[in-house]
Amino acid sequence: MKYEAQIEAAAEHFKKLLSEQLERVDRINAAGDAVDYTKKDQIVIGICGGDGIGPTITAAAQTVLTDMLSEEVKKGKIVFKVIDGLTIENRVEHMKAIPDDVLAELKSCDVILKGPTTTPRAGDPWPNIESANVAMRKELDLYANVRPVSVPEKGIDWTFFRENTEGGYAVGSKGIHVTEDLGMDFVVTTTEGTNRIARLAFEYARANGKNRVSIVTKANVIKTTDGKFLRLCEEMAKEYPEITTDEWFIDIMTAKLVDEKRRRDFKVFILPNLYGDIITDEAAEFQGGVGTAGSANIGKRYAMFEAIHGSAPRMVKEGRAQYADPCSMLRATVLLLSHIGYQAESDKLARALDICMFEEKKLTITGRDTGCTCAEFSQYVMDTLKSL
Ligand code: IPM
Ligand code: MG
Repeated sequence: MKYEAQIEAAAEHFKKLLSEQLERVDRINAAGDAVDYTKKDQIVIGICGGDGIGPTITAAAQTVLTDMLSEEVKKGKIVFKVIDGLTIENRVEHMKAIPDDVLAELKSCDVILKGPTTTPRAGDPWPNIESANVAMRKELDLYANVRPVSVPEKGIDWTFFRENTEGGYAVGSKGIHVTEDLGMDFVVTTTEGTNRIARLAFEYARANGKNRVSIVTKANVIKTTDGKFLRLCEEMAKEYPEITTDEWFIDIMTAKLVDEKRRRDFKVFILPNLYGDIITDEAAEFQGGVGTAGSANIGKRYAMFEAIHGSAPRMVKEGRAQYADPCSMLRATVLLLSHIGYQAESDKLARALDICMFEEKKLTITGRDTGCTCAEFSQYVMDTLKSL
């Protein structure tokens, strides 16, 4: 048979992927309940700067967070742990998305505030190692990527629940070049992987009085995996009869987000990984760009909070890192505070950010010396917090 050896090699590789994924399914099924942080005597917050503008904006968020939780730090309830080594240089040196010692440090924390990290792509000067984000989401099983976007004056109040460990990302760096002319990647959907993100989204909607949940897939084309995702979400919707659940394809939903008459109706979204990745950048643009949006990566044992944008190496190269916008990391801090049970502090920081970013706007960040610096902006946020 023509290509017999190539098909054989690809089948062997595929077998390995199948057994890895089936083991992962077993691990998900065996996972216990989610941690209740309010019942813990001590919460360890890891601070991981990342690369590019990451250390600058993460330091700004850490300063604000330390200031807000100073009493809790004194009591020993909150402990900060700075984790170095998640830089592209160190990752390349170890040829690992996350070097082992850095991973061990991350696992010794409860929650992590993480700056952006550089993701090499084909053609970059770096070897093509896996994204540190994607690796961390997998290693810590952070299955839900929760991304809020709010523009009050436009009536936009959206919360995206992006599945974070499956879809095109599960084996995104393990596709197969079957021959020189044929490359194949794989998409993964599991029952429990879908149920847990759907459960989190519906429970969030119920607890927060959000009366609509929209499931977004491309189940008309990607029939097996998106079809399964859609069917399981629809099944779960039956347990929430007070919530209107509707179903959209990703292409038309992308269009509807710019439809000023319709988009106000949307509240909560559930999406497979890649669609969630794409549409949350679009959504963040209405709020002032990806620099203004934070994201929560939530698992049962760990949680990680980050900006939704990249490490902006160009800003560093052009000597502009000190002008980087810390708002995405500060929004991530809002999510972190809420997740570990400091809801009042979370609300206060969100309010201060609304004042500084949208209402009072005494200082503006432009990413260059035409605006204020990152440190000046975070000081402005801290001064505003004191006045609340
Ligand atoms: C995000 C980012 C990452 C993703 C990249 C950096 C791998 O775009 O967090 O949205 O695709 O998930
Ligand atoms: Mg993205």
